[in-house]
Amino acid sequence: MKINLANIKKTEKLLNKNECVAIPTETVYGLAGNAYSDKACSRIFKIKNRPKNNPLIVHYYNDKDLFKDCSFNKNFLKLYKRFCPGPITFILDLKKDSKISKIATNKKKTLAVRFPKHPVTRNLLKKLSYPLAAPSANLSSRISAVSSQDVKEDFGKKIKYVLEGGKSPIGLESTIIDLRHQPNLLRLGGLEISVIEKVLKKKIMINNNKSKIPAPGQFKLHYSPGIPIRLNAKKIKKKEAYLLIKKIKKTKTNVYFLSKNGNLKEAAKNLYSTLRRIKKDSYISIAVGKIPNKGLGKTINDRLLRASKF
Ligand code: TXA
Ligand code: MG
Repeated sequence: MKINLANIKKTEKLLNKNECVAIPTETVYGLAGNAYSDKACSRIFKIKNRPKNNPLIVHYYNDKDLFKDCSFNKNFLKLYKRFCPGPITFILDLKKDSKISKIATNKKKTLAVRFPKHPVTRNLLKKLSYPLAAPSANLSSRISAVSSQDVKEDFGKKIKYVLEGGKSPIGLESTIIDLRHQPNLLRLGGLEISVIEKVLKKKIMINNNKSKIPAPGQFKLHYSPGIPIRLNAKKIKKKEAYLLIKKIKKTKTNVYFLSKNGNLKEAAKNLYSTLRRIKKDSYISIAVGKIPNKGLGKTINDRLLRASKF
């Protein structure tokens, strides 16, 4: 993708004034602000209508920048070397002298950090003297945005600027792993668990801390297109859209495919844009056919299950 330096300059100027700007990432678009600024972080919560107790992910250019704010360990170094920049978020301990805004963390002593791979946002991060707090650029509990158009539809004039970066190539949010103790999966995402386990040479526990909600943002209803969703549907009802993993021969206008031949990567990339399309086409609900529960299919099923709690 060609990088437009004038657009990046404009973004930089707004961020330096503690404004919020939407930025492209390889997973989904983010609503970004200076992570060291209380003012910028408060603005993010306000624009998103996000509960204050749901802390923000912070995006860094590289490990050197991260080490100013967080302590790390061997598992972090292994995963950083293999997957970053890329679609994985780490929960780490904050250093006592970290400059991260307490509004961003909701005074927690941990931080969710990520190194986005999108070339436009990498170019931006390299120029800034601070990391970017950036939750997904959508209204709380709704579907994440995978294009600048999606962001504009959700927020209109509430956001000063959307940095153009084309369609997000992965289309699902990052995989979140708590690395403070035994690696613990907090959110399935764009990076498959099996490849992470190969690098760590051990099984990753799944959300074993049942007493608290470990990733506060993983509330039950999430990723909702705003209309009801039924899973594993074999038949469809009147006025319903039918969402399938792959193309079938006889098609009617109410049938939507995530991929031509059932490729899970392609399906992931198309998931959110297809849900948005169905909503725009005025269906009253969505019936989803079975999606294989392996690899990225697990993340797709996780998102659809949460979206079905409408
Ligand atoms: O791919 C992504 O991760 C995108 C792009 C923009 O980077 N961001 C994203 O942010 O999905 P958000 O805020 O929508 O989801 C981040 C999740 C939330 O569920 C939040 O509760 C959790 O990370 N989180 C943030 N800080 C945390 C912390 N210190 N401990 C545990 N979970 C945390
Ligand atoms: Mg989100």
